Amino acid sequence: MRIFLILVIVTGVFAALWFGGREARFYFGPSERLLSKTGYNLSNLGANQSISQYRFAPMYPFWSDGAEKSRSIYIPPSAKIDTSNQDRWNFPIGTRIWKNFERDNVLVETRMLYKYGTRPWDWDMAVYLWRDDFTDADKLATGKADAHGTEHDIPSPSLCITCHGSGEQRRPLGITAIQLPYEHGSLLSLTQLENEERLTKPLASAPQIPGDDVTQKALGYLDTNCGSCHSDGSTFVSKDIPLRLNLTIESLGSIEETNAYKTTINKVPNFKGLDTDVYISPGSPEKSFLYKRLTTRGDIWQMPPLSTETVDDEGAQVIREWIESMLAN
Ligand code: HEC
Ligand code: HEC
Repeated sequence: MRIFLILVIVTGVFAALWFGGREARFYFGPSERLLSKTGYNLSNLGANQSISQYRFAPMYPFWSDGAEKSRSIYIPPSAKIDTSNQDRWNFPIGTRIWKNFERDNVLVETRMLYKYGTRPWDWDMAVYLWRDDFTDADKLATGKADAHGTEHDIPSPSLCITCHGSGEQRRPLGITAIQLPYEHGSLLSLTQLENEERLTKPLASAPQIPGDDVTQKALGYLDTNCGSCHSDGSTFVSKDIPLRLNLTIESLGSIEETNAYKTTINKVPNFKGLDTDVYISPGSPEKSFLYKRLTTRGDIWQMPPLSTETVDDEGAQVIREWIESMLAN
């Protein structure tokens, strides 16, 4: 009888998880239900700058329709980040990274990446909605449109993997050897991580994006805003699409070696449209499919396809100037 009961309970739970679908599986990950239980410092939004908890920002942030974002990371005391692969840091078990989203001065949500295992991809991803009195935030099982009366949409936790990667691709995107600044005032920098001996293999020199100011900005922008999906191994983008927009340490030697050059200049897209023939037509943004898609919203051509409803005018201007600066041929 007892065994029968246990069986019923076990199959019930299994069925609930199975039929609950993706959302349920993400919700039941190891991350705590309450943000206050994750080690996040509620009294000092964004956490303190103590030995193991740091505030940081990537050099080129992701555009989220003008939302203000702040980020912090906890690395267990004296643990090191395994940097033997400079393109894929393996953070120590117990690392937590938080990202707050504010819209119209209202703190709406906090996202968290939690390193629960030793493998580079052992990241749990959770999203927390702040309560009306801002005393704590609750883990969400589904997304929420127009949260806290703002125009900010919180993505469903099942969508985190579209950009952060699924399976062995799971990774943080803004705290990398290329995106973390070498020096950054009071925020975390590569230099500070090195000085505190937090990297297993120190960098020989600061990774430097090639090119003049406009080119560097464009390549950095495309890396964060597009490179998460448009890179090798993405399970979200079809293998038929040859476009690669991420930066890798090896490709920083010259402009021509970067993915954003190699795969776009006068290269034909998989699925043409918007009165263009190639991803980038040097000198001409209007003849460049990449630029046209970046400045489109609200239909099938919009890029990125999610997490944004308005064009990033400043970002688009950078890409426009970059394309215009290329010599037509
Ligand atoms: C549309 C792409 C996209 C989606 C969807 C997305 N993220 Fe991110 N996320 C990024 C990018 C790009 C960065 C780094 C740039 C930045 O922070 O501005 C980032 C940064 C973060 C960070 C800071 C650590 C890091 O990676 O640098 C956390 C924490 C985070 N995301 C959690 C989440 C969670 C949890 C979800 C799902 C609820 C999610 N993200 C969904 C693109 C995305
Ligand atoms: C969340 C993942 C994601 C992000 C971020 C993203 N894309 Fe895409 N992109 C896709 C997917 C999926 C497709 C294929 C479906 C389609 O064409 O809409 C695609 C297709 C494209 C194509 C057409 C490719 C072809 O050969 O047909 C272009 C151009 C493009 N993206 C540019 C960009 C640019 C520029 C950015 C950054 C501003 C960006 N994408 C960000 C997922 C993404």
